[in-house]
Amino acid sequence: MTSTTNGAGKANGRAGSPVAVTLGKKPSAGSFAGGGGGGVAPGAGKTACIRTFGCQMNVHDSDRMRRMIRDAGYAEVERYEDADVVVLNTCYVRENAVDRVRGHLGELSRLKKEGRVKKVALTGCVGAAKESSELRNTYGIDLVLGTHNTYELAEFVGLPGMEETYTPDLPGTEGDHQAFVTIMTGCNYQCSYCIVPTVRGRMSCRPMESVVDEVRRLVGSGTRYVTLLGQTVDAWREKEGARRFCDLLARVADEAPRVWFTTSHPSNMEDRTLKLIGEKETIVGRLHLPVQSGSDRMLRAMHRGYKSDRYRRKIEVFREAVPDGTLSTDIIVGHPGETEADHEETLRLVEDCAFDSAYVFKFSPRKGTEGARLASEVAVPDDIAQKRFLEVLRAVEGSAFRRNRAKIGGVEEIYVRHGRTGDGRAIGETWSGHAVHVPTGARPGEYVTARIEGAGPHVLYAGEPVS
Ligand code: 5AD
Ligand code: SF4
Repeated sequence: MTSTTNGAGKANGRAGSPVAVTLGKKPSAGSFAGGGGGGVAPGAGKTACIRTFGCQMNVHDSDRMRRMIRDAGYAEVERYEDADVVVLNTCYVRENAVDRVRGHLGELSRLKKEGRVKKVALTGCVGAAKESSELRNTYGIDLVLGTHNTYELAEFVGLPGMEETYTPDLPGTEGDHQAFVTIMTGCNYQCSYCIVPTVRGRMSCRPMESVVDEVRRLVGSGTRYVTLLGQTVDAWREKEGARRFCDLLARVADEAPRVWFTTSHPSNMEDRTLKLIGEKETIVGRLHLPVQSGSDRMLRAMHRGYKSDRYRRKIEVFREAVPDGTLSTDIIVGHPGETEADHEETLRLVEDCAFDSAYVFKFSPRKGTEGARLASEVAVPDDIAQKRFLEVLRAVEGSAFRRNRAKIGGVEEIYVRHGRTGDGRAIGETWSGHAVHVPTGARPGEYVTARIEGAGPHVLYAGEPVS
């Protein structure tokens, strides 16, 4: 029943709504430079298994860790029992997330006792959660990493520290149907809460020709979906020259059959980029634009450099340019000094923007940031932060669910991202950027066309493909 194509482009199938409301992790730009010229790789002759739970962003983080592991010389294996090192990259979004991880950790500690698995690392949102120290003790986990320090895995697998080896000019993972291409590293902003400028340094933009060459090479070797990556991709600009991110995106969109980009900063996002998303056949109609707060007072305290009305105007331009597109954001609740009135402003913005998904974070003090210093003076108590967190999450979920339901009945061209899972359904993405479960045996990188028959707050459900 399924026919596969290379994708006719989005003119065919765009109508609009949502993806996932996710607690947790989103991309930090980066890939990993080879761990040392010459000599024997530290993982040579060894095996590693990475198991990923949760959202696309976790998938991306796993991709970064996968590169570290490959650079260290490990061969990747599918099964725990074949692996020397196991990395569980976890998601905290579901209520039973920790229990699910416990199941895996139990199995792994048994395999460790039997001498099969040597080392276990727990990363991602469960690694960042307060239960992680109890899990570490109970299951004898060797390394626990949160969502902001996954680069520390490098040392764990025997590579020099990430910062030492990281350069912007890196090859992607060739041969995969989807690939991340880093276009810039570092960040020139100084958001109060954020550790990125400290660990990644100032912005460095990769030359356009280098990006385009890599995209060409990837497409030539079978890649069908390219995601341009960076902490603030829309801040990309030529060192000498007038070209901006919009020009780069247009070039890449001419080379690759399917393109997305993340993450953007509202102060850099040009209207012409938003319009380009609507115009170009090959750009997925999905915008991730972190707002962080709806309160101008908090935005100032965070040093974000824009007011909430400016953000709203950007969203209006996006919705007009890409009427069926999907919009996601990042929101921090409980930043030091946040009052109930500030929180209300955030809820109002969430209502106004009708996000299709959001990564909601409770403020967490990062040592060395201004936010951490402020937290020692005007911290928001955890019970209040938790209440605000749930309120924002529910508000986003409400709009996401509403928008998702409006998709029911439409016929969509779906790009298959992950092949058939245990329940017989593959996981795909529409041109509007919606995540879809679809009953098909089509392989990752192929397209199917199917009618949307159901919708949840995080995902759409399609029927049997019609082609
Ligand atoms: N506390 C909470 N959330 C944070 N983020 C970054 N630093 C912190 C922190 N200290 C969130 C922001 C950012 C995303 C990558 O992570 O929302 O956009
Ligand atoms: Fe961090 Fe702000 Fe830079 Fe984003 S823009 S990486 S939040 S400092």
